[in-house]
Amino acid sequence: MVLLSVIVYLVLNGIATTTKIKGNFHCTKPPKECTDCVEWNGSLYNFINTTQSYENSSMICQHKSNDTHLVYIESKEENEFVTRMLATFGSRVTPWIGLSDGKSEGNWTWGNHRAEYFNWDHGEPNGERGENNVIINLVHDGKWYDVPPGWHCPTVCEKKLHAR
Ligand SMILES: *[C@@H]1O[C@H](CO)[C@@H](O)[C@H](O)[C@H]1NC(C)=O
Ligand SMILES: *[C@@H]1O[C@H](CO)[C@@H](O)[C@H](O)[C@H]1NC(C)=O
Ligand SMILES: *[C@@H]1O[C@H](CO)[C@@H](O)[C@H](O)[C@H]1NC(C)=O
Ligand SMILES: *[C@@H]1O[C@H](CO)[C@@H](O)[C@H](O)[C@H]1NC(C)=O
Ligand SMILES: *[C@@H]1O[C@H](CO)[C@@H](O)[C@H](O)[C@H]1NC(C)=O
Repeated sequence: MVLLSVIVYLVLNGIATTTKIKGNFHCTKPPKECTDCVEWNGSLYNFINTTQSYENSSMICQHKSNDTHLVYIESKEENEFVTRMLATFGSRVTPWIGLSDGKSEGNWTWGNHRAEYFNWDHGEPNGERGENNVIINLVHDGKWYDVPPGWHCPTVCEKKLHAR
């Protein structure tokens, strides 16, 4: 059975390979948007391991392009994806995410739209006016923490790809 499968596999792949090299193609690959990004649900995600203030992390993302920003995590699935992606960089990373209530206390926003999904750890957010920016904590399973100014953390940028 196994041998048969191997033979079938080889035959099918042999045929596929032959089909591929028929004809005369002049193709170029599309340029890569970003060599160290991971794509998920129509966005590119990029982890930057150097620790920065929240403002500088945010600026690093914005400098990549005008539609790149600190990651906006808007669903449980997206939080799970980001947690899995970050786990490939180590089990203790705690980068900034794009959630902030700096404009209006308690009104958490992603850029200029109001957040609906949250993954706060128990007792978070607890900083009130003193803690307006947020990290995702892999030590605690991808839960979120509001943290005070002065912290330096790594960065996750997100760029939404446009309709292709
Ligand atoms: C932000 O980055 C600039 C340029 O690298 C640096 O001079 C500045 O000290 C950084 N600010 C903070 C708060 O780390
Ligand atoms: C910002 O991005 C949009 C959409 O990609 C583009 O149309 C626009 O020209 C960009 N603006 C600047 C100043 O780069
Ligand atoms: C995937 O992206 C679409 C379009 O932005 C969004 O509406 C949807 O909620 C996202 N899916 C998940 C699971 O986050
Ligand atoms: C990220 O930085 C930390 C602290 O400098 C280091 O221990 C870790 O190995 C780095 N991870 C990667 C994937 O570069
Ligand atoms: C919260 O912030 C959003 C986005 O800036 C804004 O549209 C909304 O009116 C604010 N809500 C309150 C209660 O301040």
